[in-house]
Amino acid sequence: MIAVYPGSFDPVTSGHLDIIARAAGMFERLIVLVAANSSKAPLFAAPERVEMLRACCAPLPNVSVDTLERRLLVDYATERGARAIVKGLRAVSDFEYEFQMALLNRRLQPQVETVFLMTSAEHSYLSSSIVKEIARLGGDITGLVPDAAVPFLEGKFAR
Ligand code: PNS
Repeated sequence: MIAVYPGSFDPVTSGHLDIIARAAGMFERLIVLVAANSSKAPLFAAPERVEMLRACCAPLPNVSVDTLERRLLVDYATERGARAIVKGLRAVSDFEYEFQMALLNRRLQPQVETVFLMTSAEHSYLSSSIVKEIARLGGDITGLVPDAAVPFLEGKFAR
């Protein structure tokens, strides 16, 4: 079965990579899908986020990275033959929004099932926005993002 793992990944965190690695072990193929035009103003342009994710996912042979531009996730999934959407859950606070999206995606395309993976405990406090803040203020982001993503953040916040 093919699955898609969508998100902003601005930037990819160690929590995201943990979900990617675990989902890659469950599905034949996993497409990590960078949402190009979310409502949030991104730090990294979509091609930079794709490059960063490709560097981080290089050791995982059944994982590819693509961009979702101006179309519905379920339409992309259907076109690529993907039957599952993977989402990571950190806390109860993630649940309401994810539940809404899962129900709407099922209504839009009943063939595509949303599968939730619980974050590993050591990543439960991580988010892209907190990583950006730490990097912006000169803090050490080692371990908070995959090693391959560190140079991308250092490039943005070089002093
Ligand atoms: O990492 P994020 O910002 O929480 O990811 C949100 C994302 C990209 C998963 C969501 O905005 C999405 O699925 N966008 C694609 C457009 C779409 O299909 N929207 C309808 C969802 S019900």
